[in-house]
Amino acid sequence: AEGPWEECFELAVQLALRAGQIIRKALSEEKQVSTKTSAADLVTETDHLVEDLIISEMQKRFPSHRFIAEEASAAGAKCVLTPSPTWIIDPIDGTCNFVHRFPTVAVSIGFAVNQELEFGVIYHCTEERLYTGRRGRGAFCNGQRLRVSAETDLSRALVLTEIGPKRDPATLKLFLSNMERLLHAKAHGVRVIGSSTLALCLLASGAADAYYQFGLHCWDLAAATVIIREAGGIVMDTSGGPLDLMSCRVVAAGTREMATLIAQALQTINYGRDDEK
Ligand code: IPD
Repeated sequence: AEGPWEECFELAVQLALRAGQIIRKALSEEKQVSTKTSAADLVTETDHLVEDLIISEMQKRFPSHRFIAEEASAAGAKCVLTPSPTWIIDPIDGTCNFVHRFPTVAVSIGFAVNQELEFGVIYHCTEERLYTGRRGRGAFCNGQRLRVSAETDLSRALVLTEIGPKRDPATLKLFLSNMERLLHAKAHGVRVIGSSTLALCLLASGAADAYYQFGLHCWDLAAATVIIREAGGIVMDTSGGPLDLMSCRVVAAGTREMATLIAQALQTINYGRDDEK
């Protein structure tokens, strides 16, 4: 083996591809849709099916490992990252897209040991793109090395964001005013594609210069963080400080200058913490 977590990485890739096949097939079929924390926070039977499949296969191979996963958390499981080997899983990222047959959906599997992210695997289910990043070993998409953009100037930036689940008037006002601030600073454009993980993969690929969001979760961030860092990028807190995986907010960019400019432009939207729910 090429390293201590090689077997785990291989399993993550295998399960992401298997889950992706199920999701791809289910995309065009009828779905049972329920809501979670808000009318815009959706879940389907496929989210549950895929999460159960991934976790049960991992548990068979690695019975001592721990899990943080989106639908288990929604059902009340605590989100705590201990030093034990921990899988951090989003079975379908972009569930709203999935429900609407908008073909931008992913499976995201991150892996941490000693509270440090070791690798991330994200599979774009419809375009069959497999993004991987391993600490110290680079980031790839279908075998091709990824490299972030070198842009440092906000007035030449293409910026990605996601809306987040809260839709009360105060939250929406802050969301729109953050976007307005970036447009006033003459960002070339702002894009919302409906999947945090795939937006972060586009950033890792150099297809955008920055990403920010309030209201995402540790399972949206874990795998993508390794991929971006291994592609040479920066992932930080919206305060400009170090990333806190449980803080439900993030700024990422190809360069530290760009990430700092975005962080300075943003007003905070408070979504609480994943480990306090
Ligand atoms: C969500 C999507 C959405 C983003 C949310 C995520 P889910 O993930 O990525 O675009 O705005 O913050 O939680 O619920 O589809 O896995």
